[in-house]
Order: sequence, then structure tokens, then C-alpha cells
Amino acid sequence: MALSIQRYANLEQGMESVGRVHSYSTVDTENYNDSDPPPAWPTEGALIIHDLVVRHAPHLPPVLRGVSFEVQRSERVGIIGRTGAGKSSFVSALLRFLEASEGEIVVDGIDISTLKIDHSRRRLALIPQQPVLFQGTIRSNLDPFHEHDDHELLAALQSCCWNQVTPGFHAVAAENASRPSTETASSIEVDAVEEDTKHLLPDNSTTISETPVSQGGKNLSQGQRQLVCLARAIITRPKILILDSPSQGR
Ligand SMILES: Nc1ncnc2c1ncn2[C@@H]1O[C@H](COP(=O)(O)OP(=O)(O)OP(=O)(O)O)[C@@H](O)[C@H]1O
Ligand SMILES: [Mg+2]
Repeated sequence: MALSIQRYANLEQGMESVGRVHSYSTVDTENYNDSDPPPAWPTEGALIIHDLVVRHAPHLPPVLRGVSFEVQRSERVGIIGRTGAGKSSFVSALLRFLEASEGEIVVDGIDISTLKIDHSRRRLALIPQQPVLFQGTIRSNLDPFHEHDDHELLAALQSCCWNQVTPGFHAVAAENASRPSTETASSIEVDAVEEDTKHLLPDNSTTISETPVSQGGKNLSQGQRQLVCLARAIITRPKILILDSPSQGR
């Protein structure tokens, strides 16, 4: 009897999985065929939102109706609204997880709906309301494509006060961490911060490559997960940094 019930439960699970695969296979794919932005775009980070209308699905009423405002270069703007007002939906529209039904979002003179979707996403940095971390290490979460050296990652962590909220965590750069091959402006700044991080070096020092992160960052607190996301965003030195309720739950 127990075996029959178990087999029935397995069959149900299998049917559920087939149903999911079927529903994902019928989802419309995003459009990856638009134009490339200029290599350095965005250079200023100026934003123009014009009559923006956004809905979560074609059959649903809009959650943003005719939103218009401008953000100049170097400005910091806070958007305030009650829960459910549409703040995260606006962030989704900026990153094109939701495409605008009407109106436009213009970044440094380019309507983002005309750009290749992956390019427009990679040039903006987001700290989401629900921090997303993957199983691995602090390093693999900060720099999944191995584009930065340990010193840059440590500098970003330090600028988020990571060591102050993580007692017992002391990070040092790996001995064999690769250094930038050319003496660029950014490498000079990194050297300056590296000098600052010397006081972090303890006897039981560890490297960011050795510090584990479990699936979803479950071995970290909600606030620590948000700090890792913040450091991950800072590392890319974005012209536009979007923080979606980053202090919620802390
Ligand atoms: N995936 C979704 N599908 C359909 N409707 C959604 C979806 N996500 C959000 N909504 C609806 O869109 C509206 C705006 O939600 P949104 O998450 O943008 O609010 P918010 O201002 O970020 O709220 P909070 O302060 O709670 O984070 C809400 O009415 C919500 O019910
Ligand atoms: Mg929200």
C-alpha cells in the first residue's frame, strides 16, 4: 500500500514537471535582435521617462499610467509610494523585465526599447528588493564572469562596510590574485583602497574565494545578502544604480 502511494506521488510529481516544461516552452522569448548601444553608453546617466504605461500582462490593467519625470546626471532620486504602488514594477520596466506598453524610457538620449535587451540590462546596476545569490563563494557571487581582481572586490566590500556587519569575517586578497596588467586610473584607485584594507588583515584571514555562500545565500542574513548585492553593483562602476527598497527587512 505504502509503495503504491509513493509511486502515485512520484507520478503526480512527474506530471507536474512535464506541465511546467510545456508552459515554459510556450513562453514568448525576449527580443535580442535590436541595435547595439555605443560602447561607453551610458556616459552621463541622465534619464527621461515620458508618459510611461506598464502592465504585467496584456490582459491586466496598467500598474503605471502616464508616468513622466527626468533625472539629471549625478542626481539621486527617491521614489516613495505605498506598498503595491508600482515601485518595483517601474524598476522592472527600467531593466525591461516588463516592456512599456506606451511611452518611453530614454537613457542618455537613447530609447532603451530600441537596444538589445541584454546590453541595456548589463549597463544598469540593480540591487533588487529580494537579493539574489547563488551557491558558491563570496567571490563567485561578486564577480561571476571573473572580470575583476580580488583587490577590487575587497574594495567594493569594504565600501559597503561588510566587515562591520560580519563579525569574524576577515577577507584578504588571494596570494595569486591577478592584478590589472596596465596601470589604469581604476587600478590606481584600487591601490589606494588596498592600503586602507591592510588593517583588516587578521591572523585567521581568509580569502573571498574560500568564503562559502549557500543556495540563495541562506547562510547569510537578509541584510548581508543585500550588502553582497550592493558590492556586486558597485564593482561595475555603473552610471545608473537602481536600489529597490534595499533596506527593507534590515
Ligand atoms: N507578477 C505580477 N503579476 C501581476 N501583477 C503584479 C505582479 N507583480 C506585481 N503586480 C501588481 O502590480 C502592482 C505594483 O506592484 P509592485 O511590486 O510594483 O509594488 P511596490 O510599489 O514595489 O510595492 P512594495 O512597496 O510592497 O514593494 C501591485 O498591485 C501588484 O499586485
Ligand atoms: Mg517593491
